[in-house]
Amino acid sequence: MAQNDDNLLKKIAGHAKEYGFVFQSSEIYDGLSAAYDYGQNGVELKNNIKEYWWKAMVQMNEHIVGLDASIFMHPTTWKASGHVDAFNDPMIDNKDSKKRYRADVMIEDYIANKLQKKIDKEVTKAEKRFGEAFDKEQFLATNPNVLRSQTKIDEINDRLKKGMEGDLADLKALIEELGIADPVSGSKNWTDVRQFNLMFSTELGSLAEGANKIYLRPETAQGIFVNFLNVQKTGRMKIPFGIAQIGKAFRNEIIARQFIFRMREFEQMEMQFFVKPGEQKEWFENWKEKRINWHKALGLGEANYRFHDHLNLAHYADAATDVEFNFPMGFKELEGIHSRTDFDLKAHEEHSGKKLQFFDTADNESYVPYVIETSIGLDRMFLAVLTAAYTEETLEDGSERLVMKIPAALAPYKVAVLPLLKKDGLPEKAREILLELQLDFNCQYDEKDAIGRRYRRQDAIGTPFCVTVDHQSLEDNTVTIRDRDDLSQIRVSVDEVRGKLAERTSMQELLRKL
Ligand code: GAP
Repeated sequence: MAQNDDNLLKKIAGHAKEYGFVFQSSEIYDGLSAAYDYGQNGVELKNNIKEYWWKAMVQMNEHIVGLDASIFMHPTTWKASGHVDAFNDPMIDNKDSKKRYRADVMIEDYIANKLQKKIDKEVTKAEKRFGEAFDKEQFLATNPNVLRSQTKIDEINDRLKKGMEGDLADLKALIEELGIADPVSGSKNWTDVRQFNLMFSTELGSLAEGANKIYLRPETAQGIFVNFLNVQKTGRMKIPFGIAQIGKAFRNEIIARQFIFRMREFEQMEMQFFVKPGEQKEWFENWKEKRINWHKALGLGEANYRFHDHLNLAHYADAATDVEFNFPMGFKELEGIHSRTDFDLKAHEEHSGKKLQFFDTADNESYVPYVIETSIGLDRMFLAVLTAAYTEETLEDGSERLVMKIPAALAPYKVAVLPLLKKDGLPEKAREILLELQLDFNCQYDEKDAIGRRYRRQDAIGTPFCVTVDHQSLEDNTVTIRDRDDLSQIRVSVDEVRGKLAERTSMQELLRKL
């Protein structure tokens, strides 16, 4: 479970590498920062997360269809979307350490680590003092120390908002006034704050043909917007309806660290839901509920999720919230749910000169639909699963084990088939069972080393069940099934194995909870 310590992230990254989940990109050349490769177990887990999302969002929703748009898009797309002019992060350099930081993140960290922590401490103290009679809401509204800190937070947030809207000089002034120091060197010798555009650009065509600057998409959403009419017309879709897609996105992040949390090449699972203007608030709430249910059904721990409503809304939004997850670094954004108004479709209408409207036969009118977007980072979801799954356990006999308690439906392998010994016809019997099970499940086969070590290897990659074939199996066609989490073992007939595994590992059972 998440332990909220820096060490845990390192342990998870180390484990992910050692057991073939995630490797640093181009490691033999000392790696490329913020780019990662998914190994033999990682790709299975990633595919299962995608399947869970695709099933829940597309195939189980009559009114949502899929799309797979190209990464390269006409460059005007990004002018229309606002990314050319406004997809910037304010950066600041420390003149002594030569390190680069995001000015807004430094200010947000100051609020969280200095002021919010003060408030939290006051609350904890008061909780202890007043016991059962403690009224948190009243305390937060009346305690002078809390109010002082809260006023300061509000003032800083106000200036941060104005700074993000363009007053970069005041962002620097704020950093200096708050006495924020470089976390590496302790120096407060800062450059001015400058805007840095996060889009990667490249050139299309050879120079001889007259090259054009194009961008690697920083979000998948725009591929959906420009195809709104294609899908609506060819799919005969009626409002409200949604278009979903899974695909790569690229951002030249100023600071990219924390393993796969912030990468320069990553994958998004996004859905744009087109609604009638005026109905967006209702649909926003509806999608908040649907998405949190999707997360909670996985059983990664309800307390590990919370909503964080945005104060500083993006240029396109009239409401926005993050689903935050309790990563090893604390609660951080896992998914964004945004009410994007009609900003994108209107902007594409203006820049393309094409109408992107829906003719509502019931009301006999045309309108540009409003959009509710759900946008989740696949890599962050992967990290959330690893975080919740990573478990160091001391067993009853005093031995230690490292087990990845990955939800069974997402686990890379559902079952490992293990002959107890590598002789006496046990491998042959085990392979016979394996061939049957492979038709339904992703299986491992392992006959090397003592059975205990083989169980540990499966624990480490999160295989929920091990089927062990022993001498008795040859006599009465039974095997044992070992449960990864409670270590129980049951003896069942070979004919029952398929059904028992399906009951406990299938995606259907997970989807039924939604
Ligand atoms: N279309 C809206 C959009 O892109 P966003 O909040 O910028 O919104 C959505 O990104 C999600 O994409 C985030 O919640 C996060 O999970 C993921 N994401 C964004 N930047 C990322 C990065 N550099 N590395 C990994 N995931 C990222």
